[in-house]
Amino acid sequence: SPWTFTPSTSDSGANLLAAADALQSSLYPVAFPTETVYGLGANAFSSAAVQGIYTAKQRPSDNPLIVHISSLDMLRRILDPLGTNAANGTECIPPIYNHLISTFWPGPLSILLPLPTGSKLAPEVSAGQPTFAARMPINILALALIQLCQLPLAAPSANASTRPSPTTAQHVTHDLGGRIELILDGGPCTVGVESTVVDGLCTPPAILRPGGISIDQIRQIPGWQDVTIAYKDTTTSNAPRAPGMKYKHYSPTAAVVLAEPNTPWSQIWQRIVHDNTCKTVGILRSRTWPDISSIQGGVAPSQCFSGSASATVYNGDGGHHKLQVFSIALGRATQEIARGLFAGLRELDLLGVERIYVEGISERGEQGSDDDDNDDGAAAAAVMNRLRKAASEVV
Ligand code: TXA
Ligand code: MG
Repeated sequence: SPWTFTPSTSDSGANLLAAADALQSSLYPVAFPTETVYGLGANAFSSAAVQGIYTAKQRPSDNPLIVHISSLDMLRRILDPLGTNAANGTECIPPIYNHLISTFWPGPLSILLPLPTGSKLAPEVSAGQPTFAARMPINILALALIQLCQLPLAAPSANASTRPSPTTAQHVTHDLGGRIELILDGGPCTVGVESTVVDGLCTPPAILRPGGISIDQIRQIPGWQDVTIAYKDTTTSNAPRAPGMKYKHYSPTAAVVLAEPNTPWSQIWQRIVHDNTCKTVGILRSRTWPDISSIQGGVAPSQCFSGSASATVYNGDGGHHKLQVFSIALGRATQEIARGLFAGLRELDLLGVERIYVEGISERGEQGSDDDDNDDGAAAAAVMNRLRKAASEVV
């Protein structure tokens, strides 16, 4: 199983160096924290190294990876492999991205860039696309790692393909332990959902995947007022343009039932009570669904994150069935919900529930929120997008 380290230990510097060494010599891919989710990184210039990522994750080979950089000069070296722009003193980063980069980098935004003539990126990175995606993360361990090895790191999320993305080192171990050598443990991710992927090379520019930076935030940037949505959700019928968005994704083992925002708890509880086929149920609640202790016959939760109740439920049909309910409160604020979402799905899976009912949230952020932090709604579209993909049923 992989070795892990926590940055607070005294030898963490040495371990970080060992990780950078492994990446430089393309020995094996390294899992590392970012602000969004944990990534599984490899030298973006080495085919063999990048293939190691696809193998470890069992990822379909037509799904391209995001290239992680620690400086704009590192990005310029990718875009200008022959040094032509450098020699002329011309900028090779397309101007459409200027404001976006200065506003959101480092941070949870990935941009599409043209693959240059003579590109040194491993072809596995772009997986047949004429473009590649790049992002500069803000997590300090991620930046330190990239900076130390002085290599752009191709890195998808460090989960097994189709599983919820990992937001702790333990999640990575759970999925990839035995398949990878090294995980840098930076604690839980602060954003909790992946980066927003945008394409500024088309007109008008497009959002290919909702994520940690909201559509509203992007619309405020000069040149991006008319940005279109090019991912598939309930409001659009376009085919997804980010290849990864067409796969089954973010799914725990349990069947996920997503309740649209404002679905009353009583309606969900009636479903649970009348479903004699399901004896263990998980609940992921956010803003309106009640605490587990108020479930009829329930007991108060023993921990703050997850509580459980075991109840014999009389369903009014003259029958009764014994039911075990585990309920996790994600919180009310969109950012808390985003941060806990994947961990909550994974925790309920570990408890062995057969079905997970999730309380959906409004994609406009928390209605009537008294804090006027206008970032509150930032990840709401991303949360609902991931849940729709994870769900086998929406009610
Ligand atoms: O927050 C994140 O972006 C995380 C962390 C580790 O940085 N990474 C991540 O990578 O989510 P991954 O591989 O799970 O998702 C990358 C997404 C996929 O939907 C992929 O199809 C899309 O970006 N993508 C990458 N390169 C692309 C390209 N050239 N054209 C279109 N879509 C691309
Ligand atoms: Mg992923």
